[in-house]
Amino acid sequence: MKYQRPKGTMDILPAEAVKWQFLENTARKTFGRYDFHEIRTPIFEHFDVISRGVGESTDIVSKEMYDFYDKGKRHITLRPEGTAPVVRSYVENKLFAAEYQHPFKTYYIGPMFRYERPQSGRLRQFHQIGVEVLGSQRALSDVETIAMALNFFDKLGIKQTKVVINSLGSRDNRQLYRQALIDYLGPLVGQLSENSQRRLQQNPLRVLDSKDQQDQEIIKQAPSILDYLDSESKLFFEEVQGHLRELGITFEVDPLMVRGLDYYNHTVFEIMSEAPGFEGVLTTICAGGRYGGLIHEFGGPREFDTSFGFAMGIERVMIAMEAENDQPKQPENPDIYIADLTAEAGILGLKMAELIRKNTLIVKCDYLIRGLRSHMRLANKLNATLVMMIGAEELAGNKVKIRNMRTGNEQYFSLGDIESDFLSAYYRMINL
Ligand code: HAM
Repeated sequence: MKYQRPKGTMDILPAEAVKWQFLENTARKTFGRYDFHEIRTPIFEHFDVISRGVGESTDIVSKEMYDFYDKGKRHITLRPEGTAPVVRSYVENKLFAAEYQHPFKTYYIGPMFRYERPQSGRLRQFHQIGVEVLGSQRALSDVETIAMALNFFDKLGIKQTKVVINSLGSRDNRQLYRQALIDYLGPLVGQLSENSQRRLQQNPLRVLDSKDQQDQEIIKQAPSILDYLDSESKLFFEEVQGHLRELGITFEVDPLMVRGLDYYNHTVFEIMSEAPGFEGVLTTICAGGRYGGLIHEFGGPREFDTSFGFAMGIERVMIAMEAENDQPKQPENPDIYIADLTAEAGILGLKMAELIRKNTLIVKCDYLIRGLRSHMRLANKLNATLVMMIGAEELAGNKVKIRNMRTGNEQYFSLGDIESDFLSAYYRMINL
């Protein structure tokens, strides 16, 4: 029986994992500077946390959940996103209490699960880096958080981005707009795709998300949500745009951009990549917005129930990063390569490797007995700085031979010297 990974999943092999580490470390460093702190919530949640949080009629909940009943007959789901779980944790752990940071600024990095049709940049197990600013009211928070995402992309060398924003207004504004959309789309229902006909029944705003060509022609003429915002919502959206301009952030307003999750109100945004890796298709690498109602829905206080956040798909960010950088991240090269030339040399090689690693250097030693030429070929390929050779002669003489790979110079070092003061011996080796 030959096993394969499940459809829509990926093995991240060591050469790839180096890039993932770089990306994740850059996120931690960047977000830390903005006073965001990490949170880790479970990979699985009670089904209701997600269905109530994200919205019953969304595609995520109605079609894409990996849910099951556990042995205790609890309805469980693998998390499809991070916002509802973070809000659940915020309320459960009373993170709104006075002793915690306010607004509560947090980030998470980890796998998410959606039963989608897999394609490039769309997986069933994918990974998100997400951030949430819980209990934040001001437009300044929206703009600081968008700026942070752009700052992060800049650090990764991702420059070909486009920021698109919109406002979904308040719940009341959306009710009015919903009706306006039904009034507009209703008479055209026969011309809509099957999917959009279903959406029109359940969640009319989602029709605007349709990728179907004929739907798009109809959507182009649809009323704009911006005409249904009340003066307060309009003012907030203007403030967001004003602050973005103050920071020199270029953006476009797309009045037809709605998001696939029900919790948004007011600002929504997407950062798209125009990198060649996506083959000419403008791809959303980061998306989010302002949301309200969730904290109260989960039993928390109303006064903190307005938040802002985003999530980016790591797999997609990786495609953009690779497309825009011609210098791929390499694994670190070894400081010292140990060439053990006989079976007896192995244990001395192991002792030396332990000593060197305690001095925080990188050692390569594979304990495969090879000839000197094969060792040298590998040391070269790995771009090792030094090679330590241990053969019968060295064993008998309590010494090792060191070759400096940059200069080609070689010299014997006594084990006594290396063991009594490794760092000064190492200093002499790299200056050989
Ligand atoms: P979302 O738009 O569902 O929002 O996902 C955010 C990002 O995750 C997408 O823009 C995309 O980069 C990535 N993504 C989503 N699905 C997949 C997939 N199947 N394969 C690969 N990447 C994917 C959220 O998840 C919200 N929780 C964001 C948020 C946080 N809003 C407020 N706070």
